[in-house]
Amino acid sequence: MAADFNQFLEKDIEIIENALDKYLQCLSTDYKIVCDAMSYSVKNGGKRLRPVLVLEFCKVCGGDISKALPFACAIEMIHTYSLIHDDLPCMDDDDMRRGRPSCHIAFGEEYALLAGDALLTKAFEIATTSTASPDVTLRAIRELAQKSGVGGMIGGQVMDLLNEGKNTSLETLKEIHLLKTGALIECAATIGCIVANADEEKVQAAKTYAQSIGLAFQVMDDILDVTGDCELLGKPVGSDKNNEKSTYVSILGLEVSTEMVEKLTDFAKESLDVFENEAEFLKQLADSLKSREK
Ligand code: IPE
Ligand code: IPE
Ligand code: MG
Ligand code: MG
Ligand code: MG
Repeated sequence: MAADFNQFLEKDIEIIENALDKYLQCLSTDYKIVCDAMSYSVKNGGKRLRPVLVLEFCKVCGGDISKALPFACAIEMIHTYSLIHDDLPCMDDDDMRRGRPSCHIAFGEEYALLAGDALLTKAFEIATTSTASPDVTLRAIRELAQKSGVGGMIGGQVMDLLNEGKNTSLETLKEIHLLKTGALIECAATIGCIVANADEEKVQAAKTYAQSIGLAFQVMDDILDVTGDCELLGKPVGSDKNNEKSTYVSILGLEVSTEMVEKLTDFAKESLDVFENEAEFLKQLADSLKSREK
């Protein structure tokens, strides 16, 4: 079973990475430096969780993954842009990402900023190329814009900054995590369903699953920021402490945070009942995230 899971995961990642390569071809030498910075940050090292969720929710709802692939790549580009900007000196000021010097260390802050902007705009260009119906494409693009914008990931990043050095309540921290990390994960699952024309019950189940694994994913990220191995993680440990971030670990401790990840994962798996026997991969994916080392 585990072998099957890994094989399916690798296959999805191969499809996604081939498509990303195609979308990242540079058309001019005049602005090659930013194309290089975009490719440098997107290629190599990412776990590709969000695009995998797009493809897998599309599959589980009986959809055609070729129609979902542009959206999968668009979300990975938006996620990568958020990481480039998150690492900038004015944000978390981290020098390593995906096992290599962060984009601004390799290319300079000005080109890292522009590479992030260019990935965000490229994402929307790519999303328009889906062969799904115009109505479905429009719904998916709206979801992409809402969840990556101020009501989603950006809003979470703003709250994350505003709460540095503060005694953040658990309730506020949950809201921050659900936005800064949960929003794009929820977006991925929802778009997979939208492309497959899934009914509302399935869309709701996908959202519940994604919110739970999204929260668990950021709690795990906070745990790894304390217990992780920098080499394996591909990014610095201790960043949250350096930036005086409130995290689940700083408020609840490691043990309770680990239990939370367990509970959220179980809840996520239960929410997939509506997909009956079709959701085995998504259940194993949730499980794989609670023991991740990167
Ligand atoms: C890191 O995301 C930032 C968070 C939102 C927690 P990932 O852990 O998915 O990073 P990559 O894509 O694998 O590098
Ligand atoms: C990142 O949260 C959320 C984003 C939207 C990028 P973190 O700041 O904890 O992510 P890492 O630990 O730098 O990957
Ligand atoms: Mg951050
Ligand atoms: Mg960070
Ligand atoms: Mg972190």
